[in-house]
Amino acid sequence: MSDRRPIIGGNWKMNTTLAGARDLAQAVVQAIGQDGARQADVVLFPPFVSLAGVAGTLGDGPVALGAQDVYHESDGAFTGEISCAMLADCGCGYVLTGHSERRHVIGESDDLVGLKTRAAIASGLHVILCVGELLEEREAGQTDAVNERQLRAALAGLGPDAAPRLTIAYEPVWAIGTGKTATPADAQAAHARIRQVLGELMGDAASTSIRIQYGGSVKPANAAELFGQPDIDGGLIGGASLKAEDFASIVRAACSDPARPR
Ligand code: 13P
Repeated sequence: MSDRRPIIGGNWKMNTTLAGARDLAQAVVQAIGQDGARQADVVLFPPFVSLAGVAGTLGDGPVALGAQDVYHESDGAFTGEISCAMLADCGCGYVLTGHSERRHVIGESDDLVGLKTRAAIASGLHVILCVGELLEEREAGQTDAVNERQLRAALAGLGPDAAPRLTIAYEPVWAIGTGKTATPADAQAAHARIRQVLGELMGDAASTSIRIQYGGSVKPANAAELFGQPDIDGGLIGGASLKAEDFASIVRAACSDPARPR
């Protein structure tokens, strides 16, 4: 039984205009209601250019704001990049690092994800570090090895004091946007091994407290079974987070697990 508070993220990826993002944020707040926000951490990840606008919509309410990426340098000649301080200034408390689309579409290396992860944690942001294997890696039996390599590269040098500002998202790449979901048992096995690696890197207390989200085609129909697994502490949601009602229903699935705190 876990007493970790569930955490649900809505990663909007490269979708929404500014007006659409504000409308969606407002609709999410309404659909979730006070109850959902009390029982889980809920974070929205709009595109960079909508962050300040969505921050205005969310105000001081219970739904938090995060960015989909960040650069590790604090300022200077890095055309197109955004610093940790700029995100905080926009009202962000969270940031994603190492999302599979950054790794595999944009070409970010394990080392770059590590630089970003450490810089964001040092700046006081809460990092959701994404890890996960490609289909060919899964078929070659390398799921745990890939997750472990990505975790070790991203978390090198971080101690247990970083744990309160860290969440892991396990997102098998073959399950993202494909409609294919890992079975709850397969996802649980990967999460349990991730938690073991966190223990080796940061100590037992940290590994028990750090939340591990599952991501990859989570929908209202499959969320409860996934979130019912002992090492799955919520989800990072792509497509279904663009529909306020679907996203709210996924948040409710995380809250209705009887093992969760109220
Ligand atoms: P989907 O929910 O669309 O599969 O996306 C998952 C994801 O990549 C969230 O970061």
